[in-house]
Order: sequence, then structure tokens, then C-alpha cells
Amino acid sequence: MPAILDYTKNVMFLENLEIAEVSAGGVKIINHKGKKISRKVSCVKWDKSQAEKGGFDHFMLKEIYEQPKIISGILDTRTKRSKVYFEELKISKKTLKRIDKIAIVACGTAYHAGLSGKYMIEWLAHIPTLVDTSSEFRYRNPIVDKNTLVIVVSQSGETADTLAALRESKKKGAKVLGIVNVLGSSIAREADGVIYTHAGPEIAVASTKAYTAQLTILYLFSLYLALLRGRRTPQKIRAYLNELRKVPHLTRRILKRYGTESSDMKLKAKEFNQEYHKRLKLYCQEDREEKRRAPNCCFLFLGRNVNYPSALEGALKLKEISYISAEGYPAGEMKHGPIALIDENPWTICIAPESKLHEKMISNIRQIRARKGIVVAIATEGDEEIKNVEAQYIIEIPHIEQTLTPFLVAIPLQLWAYFVAREFGEEIDQPRNLAKSVTVE
Ligand code: G6P
Repeated sequence: MPAILDYTKNVMFLENLEIAEVSAGGVKIINHKGKKISRKVSCVKWDKSQAEKGGFDHFMLKEIYEQPKIISGILDTRTKRSKVYFEELKISKKTLKRIDKIAIVACGTAYHAGLSGKYMIEWLAHIPTLVDTSSEFRYRNPIVDKNTLVIVVSQSGETADTLAALRESKKKGAKVLGIVNVLGSSIAREADGVIYTHAGPEIAVASTKAYTAQLTILYLFSLYLALLRGRRTPQKIRAYLNELRKVPHLTRRILKRYGTESSDMKLKAKEFNQEYHKRLKLYCQEDREEKRRAPNCCFLFLGRNVNYPSALEGALKLKEISYISAEGYPAGEMKHGPIALIDENPWTICIAPESKLHEKMISNIRQIRARKGIVVAIATEGDEEIKNVEAQYIIEIPHIEQTLTPFLVAIPLQLWAYFVAREFGEEIDQPRNLAKSVTVE
């Protein structure tokens, strides 16, 4: 509920001209006529320590480190053997069996989680799924009806465009499911059903733990639909869940290897910073007449299939906090534009874990290297082929079933953005021009 807090009087001004008086004895809500109003109490299980940095330099780093625990918390409470539970979901199994289309609608990072959701829902549950940014969806007269399930994904539950998309969908008769982090937020209240991500308060503007929590819920929801609609046997679901349960442990391993002050990733970020300034300095010294443009010190992020959304999210993280231009692309599209940028200046992050499309990624990397491009590859431990393409830096992730790699890939991408921004001395938790919750259009 959007509210303005007046600390001096322990009073909160709420929606509809209501006022909440906060005291040691409780909270009293009165309307504009001074009449007391009673409201249902919901308990938020967040504690004070979650709003403190707990020894980390920034909230963002703290939140990156919280991810293994949050993911295992979601898996522990929502799964048992081959079963997936969504107790608060209020949309009946009958409805979920009937729907013939899904539309996932969200903004920013939540939109990227939604894109991953599409791959999983279509693969596991076989339901055609479209994904749209809320600001496009709400104004394009989307084709949704009573047989469509609209899933709105939002950390804050207050994003204006996403809320408007929810209302538009309900008006057209669709059922709306909210995947939301903030308990009792507008989206949680207005959706027909809600699944909470329970990631705890996210303070850094750049979203990290809410993203992997949204991914976890979307993967579980895909499994839930697959079982419900008879697309996967309980045995298959169980095997997949067992694989998913490896994620917390493996993400912890990645954090241990790359997330510390002594990690080589931090050194690489420093190297990028030095390189960037060296090129800039050179450019400034040279006769401008001879140089037609500034060096292209940007970042490209390439991924395929389930890691195409990872590439978009990696680029978003970096640009949000370091202000360096970064673009995410499906690697197969490289030849349709981004390849024109490649020379010795941009750094290309190639997300290339073990997968059925690994060969294709290798060939993308070769094309970049042939044009003197700098490559940072994210690859699976033990990948010998990647060593032959002479990437400048290889970030290794442990082996996992290929559709689960976005969880593991997310961690080094977040750390990379964090270390680069820190080298540049940027204000990490509160980047300029950005807001944590965008409640206006
Ligand atoms: C803002 C934030 C992003 C977030 C997006 C969507 O742009 O800076 O981090 O992903 O809003 O927010 P939501 O609360 O709806 O997930």
C-alpha cells in the first residue's frame, strides 16, 4: 500500500485519505471523517537484520549472497518428492487445466525472469506462452480472454504499468496470477491468485535475489502445470526437482570462487577499468581529425535459448549500476547487427555452458575472436573446447542439467556488474535516475 510516513508524529498517510497512527500498542487506521476502520492483519516475516548491510559494503552484494538460502527456502517450503505446492494460489486446478494460452507481463528484471518462464512453461507444460513488457502490453489491446492465464511478475507489486496490465487483463476476462515479493502490495491484492517469492526485502535498486526467486517460482509453476495437465509423469517431475535442489549448493560454490575480494573476477574488472581509461586517454591525445569516433568501450552479452534472457539480464545489471553501455542479444542474431561493433574495444560476455547449442556458441566466439574481439566466456567446468577458442577470461560454473544453467549463470553476471561498477567508483545501491519501485508511468 503506497504510504507517506511522518516520523515526527508516528503517522502514515495511506491511500483514500486514510491515516494510520502507529504506537507501541498497535496501529489504528482512521478515514477522512475520523472513523476507525478495521483491516485484516497479515504478518510480514521480515526482520530488522534484513534491512541492514550485515558486514557487506553494499546491499547489492549482500543480496547476491542471500540467493542460495532464498532458493533453498522456496524449494523446501514448496516441494516434496514429486509434488509442488502453492497454497495461496486461489486459481482452481480446473481453470489451470482449461487455459489455452499464457501471457507473462512484467518490467525490467522481472520481465527477464518472465522470458525464462516462457521457455520452461512451453517446454514442460506445452502451453503457448507470450511475454511482454507491461508498458507495451497495456496499450496494444492484447488478445486475452477467459481461457488465458496472465502472469504478472513484480518484486514490489506496485509497478504502475504492470498494475495497469493486470487491470486490463481482468477487464478482458482473463485470470491473473501475480508472482510478487512484497506481501499485501497492490498487485498481490488485485490479482485473482498470488504466489509470493519470499525473497525478503530487496534494498539495492538493481534486482538480484528477487530475480532468482522469480525464476525459482516460474520453474516450479511450470512443473506444477506439467503434472496437472499430464505432460510429465511424477517420476520425471521428481527427477527434475532433484536436479533443481542442487542449485543452492552450486550457487554457493560459485560465490565462494568468484564473490570474494581475492577473486580473479575482481582483478578482471580492474583490468577492464584500466583498459577503458587507457583507450579514452589515447583517444583524447590523438588528433581528433584522424579519429572519427570514440572507442567503442561497450559490452555485449550473448546467450542462446534459456540463456538468452540471462544475456539480457546481465546487460541490464551492468548498465544500471556502472552506466556503461551494454546490450544483450540472442547469439544467433549477432550477424544481424552486433557483429558490426566488434573490434579490439568492446568486451563480449558469451554465455556458453554445456547445452545442445554449445557448438553454436563456440562458433560465435570464434567469429568474435577472428575480429580481434575480447571475449569473457561463461562455461561449464571441464569444457576443453572453450579453452581452444582463446577467450581472454573464462568464468567456470559447475555442471547442471542444461535448462537450469540460468540460475548458475546469474551469479557471475551479477558479480561482474558489481565489481565493474565498484572499480568505476559508482554509487551501487542507488544508481542515478533509477527508482526501486516505479509507481508512476
Ligand atoms: C525498476 C527497478 C528494477 C525492476 C523494475 C520492475 O526499474 O529499478 O530493478 O526490475 O522496476 O519492478 P518490479 O517491482 O515490478 O519487479
